[in-house]
Amino acid sequence: MLSSLKSSLTILLTIFLTIATTLAQTIPSFNATLPPLNVTAISARDNISILECWQLATLPSIFAGAINFPLGAVEKASWAVIPPRTMVGLHNAPYVQLVFALAGTVHIKTNQTIPRTSPSYSSTVWSSLPSSPNDTFAVPEAEAWMHGGRNGFFIAADTSNVSAVGHVAEFPSDAATVLVQVPLEGNRVPEHTVLYEGVCAEGDLLGY
Ligand SMILES: *[C@@H]1O[C@H](CO)[C@@H](O)[C@H](O)[C@H]1NC(C)=O
Ligand SMILES: *[C@@H]1O[C@H](CO)[C@@H](O)[C@H](O)[C@H]1NC(C)=O
Ligand SMILES: *[C@@H]1O[C@H](CO)[C@@H](O)[C@H](O)[C@H]1NC(C)=O
Ligand SMILES: *[C@@H]1O[C@H](CO)[C@@H](O)[C@H](O)[C@H]1NC(C)=O
Ligand SMILES: *[C@@H]1O[C@H](CO)[C@@H](O)[C@H](O)[C@H]1NC(C)=O
Ligand SMILES: *[C@@H]1O[C@H](CO)[C@@H](O)[C@H](O)[C@H]1NC(C)=O
Repeated sequence: MLSSLKSSLTILLTIFLTIATTLAQTIPSFNATLPPLNVTAISARDNISILECWQLATLPSIFAGAINFPLGAVEKASWAVIPPRTMVGLHNAPYVQLVFALAGTVHIKTNQTIPRTSPSYSSTVWSSLPSSPNDTFAVPEAEAWMHGGRNGFFIAADTSNVSAVGHVAEFPSDAATVLVQVPLEGNRVPEHTVLYEGVCAEGDLLGY
């Protein structure tokens, strides 16, 4: 009787340990083992928009079965639907904002050599410059493709006070692109380190 109870307990304990081990492998159970989130950012240097892979400074924590990555205080969020095959000229990020592409495709480009006469030129920036209509302006080359879904998160931070003309955005998909845009409180750029210039490599995006 006692030995059968003991063996039942052993079986239960074994099942429990198996489940616990499986859970531990799925979701790391200790903060120290969780790397912070990396995210592609449209940033700026020397008054020119560039792409960078940022690692956010805040550490994730576990609550209610989820790994939670803090993204900071936000304000005035908006939901944007962009018609299929929309091309937007050079523009700056209106706010320092988190952008979540839920559907469709976002194509970001810098290093555009664009004639002054192109509608892509922001007249406010360029009207003040003494140059001929045929002049072009080149910014460092880079591009990013963001597809709606779990890797569709990026940060747009090339506001007009840090980037003269901003970046070019295109939404080339045959279906509408859907974005959730969430400005950060006070346009505060989240604390981060720059991992490298360019978009985040697939392997540096959330691997869980
Ligand atoms: C994990 O981080 C959260 C938030 O920083 C903290 O409240 C919690 O105590 C930490 N847990 C462990 C096991 O360190
Ligand atoms: C601008 O380009 C056009 C066409 O190439 C040319 O005819 C014109 O002379 C150029 N203007 C200047 C100011 O260079
Ligand atoms: C910008 O793009 C041109 C070609 O389109 C390339 O030759 C040039 O090196 C790029 N400049 C920078 C700073 O990346
Ligand atoms: C950035 O460029 C614009 C247009 O050339 C200029 O008006 C502005 O002063 C520049 N800003 C900085 C910080 O250099
Ligand atoms: C640009 O403006 C935002 C507020 O709109 C501010 O948070 C940021 O510090 C400014 N950047 C620089 C380099 O002045
Ligand atoms: C962020 O990138 C670093 C450097 O490649 C990597 O070690 C880390 O695992 C990445 N973070 C996540 C959450 O994937």
